[in-house]
Amino acid sequence: MSVIDEIKDRIDIVEVIGESVKLRKSGKNFSGFCPFHPNTRTPAFAVFPDSGTWRCFGACNEGGDVFSFLMKKEGWDFSETLRYLSKRAGVELRPRGPEERAVEEAHHRLRELMEEGVTYYRHRLLHTSEGSTVLEYLRSRHLSNEALETFEIGYAPKAWDATLSHLLNKGYNEGELVDTGMVTEREGGGFYDRFRHRIMIPIRDARGRMVGFGARVVDPKDVPKFLNSPQTPLFDKGRILYGLDKARKAIREADQAVIVEGYMDVIALHQAGFANAVSPMGTALSENQLRLLKRYSRRMILALDADVAGSQATLRGLTVARETLDRELDPVFDARGLVRHEGRIDADIRVITLPEGVDPDEVVSEDPSAWSVMLGQAQTVVDYVLEVLTRDQDLEDPKGKAEIAQQVLPLIEDVADPVEREAYRQNLARKLKVDERALLSLRPKPPRRRTRQALPAEVSLEGLVSPKAESPVERFCLGVLLRDPELLYRIDRRLQALDLARVSPQDFTGTDHQVIFHAVREALAQDEDEPIHHWRNQLDPTLITLADAFLADVVELDFRLPKVLEGIMANFLRLRKRRLELALTHLRFQLQAVQEIETTDKELHEDLWHHTREVQRIASEKERLDRALAGPSGL
Ligand code: UTP
Ligand code: MN
Repeated sequence: MSVIDEIKDRIDIVEVIGESVKLRKSGKNFSGFCPFHPNTRTPAFAVFPDSGTWRCFGACNEGGDVFSFLMKKEGWDFSETLRYLSKRAGVELRPRGPEERAVEEAHHRLRELMEEGVTYYRHRLLHTSEGSTVLEYLRSRHLSNEALETFEIGYAPKAWDATLSHLLNKGYNEGELVDTGMVTEREGGGFYDRFRHRIMIPIRDARGRMVGFGARVVDPKDVPKFLNSPQTPLFDKGRILYGLDKARKAIREADQAVIVEGYMDVIALHQAGFANAVSPMGTALSENQLRLLKRYSRRMILALDADVAGSQATLRGLTVARETLDRELDPVFDARGLVRHEGRIDADIRVITLPEGVDPDEVVSEDPSAWSVMLGQAQTVVDYVLEVLTRDQDLEDPKGKAEIAQQVLPLIEDVADPVEREAYRQNLARKLKVDERALLSLRPKPPRRRTRQALPAEVSLEGLVSPKAESPVERFCLGVLLRDPELLYRIDRRLQALDLARVSPQDFTGTDHQVIFHAVREALAQDEDEPIHHWRNQLDPTLITLADAFLADVVELDFRLPKVLEGIMANFLRLRKRRLELALTHLRFQLQAVQEIETTDKELHEDLWHHTREVQRIASEKERLDRALAGPSGL
């Protein structure tokens, strides 16, 4: 039994869900009002203790196990949920080796040390006379006490060794202080405070653990304006988004993340009630950061400075370089990069531009509703670029038209979705008043698709492995996909030929399996890394252990053999069949639950009607599957 199954075994899902949802017993199961969508009339939410699952039959139309419930409810990712539940269940996660423990111990100490730093800088801001001047400045920028407290803003005194000696006195050594980036080693020997006479902004990772500091000048003459922690064992800028620990819940709730440029913007937006804002801290947005964000929502809005991204001159070539003293950043706005990221990670990225010389910080301080209005005007990256390029242009000039087309077309070709791509082309043709066919001739050649090897027509089969696990079909299917992610394309095609949806996380019952499947899909959606390496890099260590066990089950199979492929196909059909059967059972329960409420309520009758239709639809899908399973399952 995997640790995950063990946890589920020990945890009572009714108890966990019962902590936030009022449940009423109905037969063996429980029903209540769904906590994820506003509803008061029909109890559309059900918990099934036997299978350890829950389901909303209403607006969400979603379900899962105790893991997915907490992930959705708390905004946690899988690893966090695993940690919480393992503790609650008293199940120990993978025992760590001595080396791992030592590294963890060291990291833990560094974090503690930085927490000491946070406390110290806070104290200097709030309880010293130099601090009070800085506090006045912060107040003059309309920052509330509450915001200063939430974001733990502090002040690093104007001295070479104040922080150093304070922390040495606390029992840490110089080496550790250097490792946190708060102290720097002098070339000739000796140590000094890295941050002097600066406003200190603690930076935490998505889970709220200290990783570094951003430090803004107090004296406008000082440079650089912002000094960040150096790259340390804990601070990897390209993998951190400032404010995410405080924003993630709001991002999930709003199903939208807003990316702004500055620390001060994040703080001001949160203070004004727009808690879904994060910032990449002066670096260009990395794909890692976008992936991190996508865990909470696929819809992202990028707030750009008008002067930087907007000016047509700098947009030429579709990349923009920003020159600043201390910034390691190259392109702040790289439209082509964004469109590619968007396709690879399946996100929806939009852009807004700020009025010339104004930061989001200033927009919301003046008028919070202005910010909502701006968000409402977000444009897709392609539309935005097209608008900027055509702004103040003579669109009657043939040379000008060709130039614009040549700049925008490569961008459009990078758009992953064919329907979207076509819409952009039409839009471009309309704007330039040219025939779409003329545009097509200008289009760059599409990149060659990866070719797939043909299968040798050899036949011999030792019999497919059928592990004696709790859900052998799921295990087998995942093992196959983990070993050869590209097989998923074939399987999807086969399902689609039967008029059925592609394989999705919902085909798997447990969140552990769903997360593993999701990692396979993601691995296929990117092209920076071999898919097999990619999923391995994405998964939580506990899931890697699980994935390796699934892989071991199928390691003997030769996927090139048609019979093996046939067996694989049949198992995926079985997988879907099981999902449909389960859905039917659940729906029948809900039908009954709704029928039990004696009422003339129109809404309830509609529900009933809807559920009945759903039962019929699923039954007919299942019939198609049964027929396919009975016949040859040719690929
Ligand atoms: P801004 O100059 O717009 O600063 O830089 P800001 O956050 O709006 O601060 P205020 O409102 O002037 O006080 C935007 C972001 O770029 C990074 C920081 O992350 C900053 O928040 N940056 C800026 C640096 O890393 N180094 C710099 O020297 C300047
Ligand atoms: Mn600003």
